[in-house]
Amino acid sequence: MRHLPMRVPRVIGRRALGALTTALLTTGGLAVSAQAVPAAAPDPAPASSGHEQLALTPPMGFNNWNSTHCRDEFNESMVKGIADLFVERGLKDAGYEYVNLDDCWALPERDADGRLVPDPKRFPNGIEAVADYVHSKGLKFGIYTSAGTKTCSSIGFPGALGHEYSDARQFADWGVDYLKYDNCNNQGVDAKQRYTTMRDALAATGRPIVYSICEWGENKPWEWAGDLGQLWRTTGDINDSWGSMSSIMKSNLELAEYARPGGWNDPDMLEVGNGGMTDTEYRTHFSMWSIMAAPLLIGTDLRTAPESAFEILTNDEVIAVDQDPLGKQGEVVSSEGGRWVVSKELADGSRAVALFNEGSRAQRIETTAKAVGLPKSRGYTMRDLWKHSDTNTTGRIAATVPAHGTVLVRVHADRKWAQYPPAVDVHAGGDTVTEAGRTVRITSEATDLGGTAAHSVSVALTGPDGWRVTPRSATSARALKPGATLATDWDVVVPAGTSTGDRILTLTARHRTHSGSWLTSTAPFTVRVGVPLPAGESALSDADPLSATNGWGPVERDQSVGERGAGDGNPITIGGTTFAKGLGVHASSSVEYYLGGTCGKVTAQVGVDDESGDKGTVAFEVWADETRAASTGTLTNADPARAVSADVSGADIVRLVVTDAGDGSGYDHADWADLRVTCT
Ligand code: GLA
Repeated sequence: MRHLPMRVPRVIGRRALGALTTALLTTGGLAVSAQAVPAAAPDPAPASSGHEQLALTPPMGFNNWNSTHCRDEFNESMVKGIADLFVERGLKDAGYEYVNLDDCWALPERDADGRLVPDPKRFPNGIEAVADYVHSKGLKFGIYTSAGTKTCSSIGFPGALGHEYSDARQFADWGVDYLKYDNCNNQGVDAKQRYTTMRDALAATGRPIVYSICEWGENKPWEWAGDLGQLWRTTGDINDSWGSMSSIMKSNLELAEYARPGGWNDPDMLEVGNGGMTDTEYRTHFSMWSIMAAPLLIGTDLRTAPESAFEILTNDEVIAVDQDPLGKQGEVVSSEGGRWVVSKELADGSRAVALFNEGSRAQRIETTAKAVGLPKSRGYTMRDLWKHSDTNTTGRIAATVPAHGTVLVRVHADRKWAQYPPAVDVHAGGDTVTEAGRTVRITSEATDLGGTAAHSVSVALTGPDGWRVTPRSATSARALKPGATLATDWDVVVPAGTSTGDRILTLTARHRTHSGSWLTSTAPFTVRVGVPLPAGESALSDADPLSATNGWGPVERDQSVGERGAGDGNPITIGGTTFAKGLGVHASSSVEYYLGGTCGKVTAQVGVDDESGDKGTVAFEVWADETRAASTGTLTNADPARAVSADVSGADIVRLVVTDAGDGSGYDHADWADLRVTCT
């Protein structure tokens, strides 16, 4: 298939199949045998055996799916290896408990008695032996099937629809402690009915089995699944990319009110360690899953995972936020300009507060103890859960957060606050857009946010190699009183010949604590270096962008986005017309070019690329600095190329944005065809 969507093609197959079989059923053309439709429960479900006691905090463990899908390395030795590492590497002590199998553990056919058969290549000793091994380590064991006639894999393993009671019995006999129950090939049978039948079947086994409802948020499970299981997926599948993780996070954040002990919103399993995101992004992933009280199911092969993944996954102070016994999901306090503040009430009366920067450049994020729900107090203790250090504040909670980063703190209104050194917030302002060879003036500020004085305060600013940074005023103060600021001017020379792009400078402030140690706060500061565009009219795709973000693979020059790799696109084609020049992008996308105030007009022919089949829906926007200079509204494959012309006179930067038009970014291959700029 030429037009890969954001999601794996397997999804297209099964959704299409689901729709087809539903249609056949409703038109009387029965696509499945009558037995495939769920049988009525054989007898009423007995009172559940401890169901109410399960998952009083969000389940923690491992599931192979995100790292292996159905590849061969998903097998007995992997599962045992993970259980071993849980014990050896301290994950069990950190709270990770369940070792779970996902799809593809079975043979495609049941045996003559209708029983599920483990794949003998993957699990030569059967499933029970693996469960026994996991149990022997003091861990618990989970398995997977679908509330449909087949599972989700395109190979199609047997699903439990119509076999709920016998399959549940088989799982219980194997020693299963956790069932993930998926949604594929569901024959259009009502979701609540399908998930209720399995709930009753699990209860009938008498074995306590955590029940994970995986219908991707299609039927608002947060409204009903709490009566059935302990967790319910709220979205489609995650993948190991910033776009996927952050959009799932935002959907799940809206559902805070539904989470409670024994019933959790599930934004899908962790990708930490799989390599598609930076460590900053993985720390955001882990921080935000924890503040959302999400299940923490490790989705990386720990046998080969980098050390940084272990460091993130075993941060016990972050895990404690997730596992807090009060069982509340963090709530959004504010989210302007990609600066998110999320606050989670904790059992000891403190609040976990996440300052999450969704933007692609560092931003300062600030809130207050009052805004995050803390009671009035003269001072607060604020613990940074990644730096593992305590400070005091009189109520301001602020940090400059790197692009895609999260600062996670735990704030108490306690009487001990004055024992800790004050929090010192550093940030800088000034010229951010410039050209090679120029000098920019930056002003930094280090402010004591605490109720006690900060002693021996000093600031430093460092640029990339070859950059000259000179302070033009004092860089130190013997002491800063509460609320006082040390302001410093800096001249920064951007070396001649520096290429287009963002460069990060680091501002550091340090001050001495009572015990004589030093406390450091840092703030990234972005300087955007542009190279002037040629005079006259030129193709923007011939220039280097200042920045580029894309929803699927990289932005491509003079070709469509194609697949996920670089340079794997096709000729840019909209409505049958081919264009030699332009940019191929995929929603959600943003590409910036430096104009330096010397250009007048940007023009393009825009539309959904023909390679997306007939499913793409996008909208184009052209921004001149902070002004929206042109926009198209929603365009689909049915639309021919649309001419766009934007007045960018005087602007330093033009930003070309493609949104998903509000319906998710699958199939959203979009083109800025014949993209041209006129400059003097
Ligand atoms: C669905 C689920 C995934 C995974 C796969 C297995 O897509 O949502 O989490 O279990 O099926 O095929």
